[in-house]
Amino acid sequence: MNPIVKRSQRRRKDEDNVKVVDSALDSRTAQAILEIMRKLRLRRVLGSIASGKEARIYPAIDEAEKYYALKVYYMATATSKRSTIKYIQGDPRFDGVSLGDTKELIYTWAKKEFKNLIRMAGAGVRVPQPFVLVRNVVAMEFLGDGPARAPLLRELDPSLIDAALYLKLIEQVELTVTKARLVHGDLSEYNVVIVRGEPYLIDVGQALPVEHDKAEEMLIRDLSNLNRFFERLGIETVEVEETAKDLLKRAGSLTS
Ligand SMILES: Nc1ncnc2c1ncn2[C@@H]1O[C@H](COP(=O)(O)OP(=O)(O)O)[C@@H](O)[C@H]1O
Ligand SMILES: [Mg+2]
Repeated sequence: MNPIVKRSQRRRKDEDNVKVVDSALDSRTAQAILEIMRKLRLRRVLGSIASGKEARIYPAIDEAEKYYALKVYYMATATSKRSTIKYIQGDPRFDGVSLGDTKELIYTWAKKEFKNLIRMAGAGVRVPQPFVLVRNVVAMEFLGDGPARAPLLRELDPSLIDAALYLKLIEQVELTVTKARLVHGDLSEYNVVIVRGEPYLIDVGQALPVEHDKAEEMLIRDLSNLNRFFERLGIETVEVEETAKDLLKRAGSLTS
């Protein structure tokens, strides 16, 4: 048999195996997952444990039984595309990206999350450690005792939610702004995961550099969301506007 035909048949078979995990995956995405499986020497990808508007999370396991989380961005719908454009415009790191090409936008979005994770991890923020990016798929550290994911802040037993946890979370926001020089931009009890009592920030694709026009507004919104959640449980919180200004000033992006 012609070896070229053989290789392409082989590839289709691998792709079919990935599709068993999720028949809805398009062929390019299945290929991206295969590439990541090769790079990280993953043995198996499990069924998705979470799916939101823009992405789906698949646990995966390597030869040493270590778990990873694969975040797969969907090929965009009209609404997520609009919200993507809103964030990318004005971010100097994405100058020159064509805003008309949907596929390009989704790749840009995944790349944005990957780079933000690297920048935050490098600054000492608790985030899932990023490993590999291939097109619309980000491979990162799995938070939890795989395949069971760790709880979101909103799923945490209320008896475990106290002032100390709130302060730990504010400390992560502080590191994000002053050391990573980013504003998360979608922070709430839905994007904080609790691992052994420590808050981890997830879902950082939309995070903005502190220099961005909307940075202060986004930071105020992030802090307000967290405060609303903790105040409902009777926990004392920090003053939002003052804290936002102080953090941005310490990041060197506000002069007044
Ligand atoms: N690294 C991870 N380890 C374990 N679970 C994760 C990880 N990242 C995300 N999740 C789970 O998947 C869900 C969706 O991920 P998220 O990044 O918030 O995407 P979305 O944009 O769909 O909200 C989260 O609410 C969380 O429960
Ligand atoms: Mg989320």
